[in-house]
Amino acid sequence: PHDPAEAAKRKAAAYAAAQVQDGMAVGLGSGTTSKLVIDEVGRRVKEGLRIKAIATSIQSHHQAVALGIPITNFAETPRLDLAVDGADEVQRGSLSLIKGHGGALLREKLVEIIADRLLIAVDPRKIVDVLGSVFQVPVEVVPFGWESTAKRLRDLGFAPELRVHEDGKPYITDGQHYILHCDLPGSGLSPEDAAEAFNRTVGVVEHGLFLGMTSQVVIGSAEGIEILDP
Ligand code: A5P
Repeated sequence: PHDPAEAAKRKAAAYAAAQVQDGMAVGLGSGTTSKLVIDEVGRRVKEGLRIKAIATSIQSHHQAVALGIPITNFAETPRLDLAVDGADEVQRGSLSLIKGHGGALLREKLVEIIADRLLIAVDPRKIVDVLGSVFQVPVEVVPFGWESTAKRLRDLGFAPELRVHEDGKPYITDGQHYILHCDLPGSGLSPEDAAEAFNRTVGVVEHGLFLGMTSQVVIGSAEGIEILDP
């Protein structure tokens, strides 16, 4: 890797994968950093590591299955020991997150909310002082009546934009929903108030603000890793 961002991701992913220990129930994240984590966990499973896992996207699920990582479910495994995932933004200090620019926020939240420990692996570009300063907040909405849901979010000041493919067709999530990208700083609301506003809005399934969930952040760089605790 001559690409510094790629090298950073690899360092963070290696640390995250090393936190997975024998006997654990593990949540597997989505995105390019998580893909590296799952590769390494799969390699260790082949060497005898015994774990069971739930993936946060169809793509990560397929990757895990192909690598022979045993898959569990929510009925058999009501709590996870550890979940590892990437993020789009990490707020310095609070370790609040924006997630979902890969489109997987709903399953990510469903899996990570039942984890005793959520470890987020990122490269240094993801660390921000103000949440939403680089990325909008992805908000997953029901396709039926989405224009009306978007109006409710617009009235709250979020200036929602429908996520579309290059051909203009709406992006469809694993859960068969649409995504509205919402401007957090522009709304003037704190992440906490914005999260409450999203939760109260009819038509919203889930949002990409992950507040008070992060147990630890590992930041990779070409030189090594840095750990942030809340
Ligand atoms: C997926 O929906 C996101 O929440 C990802 O966790 C996020 O996009 C991180 O992906 P990268 O590791 O590819 O940056």
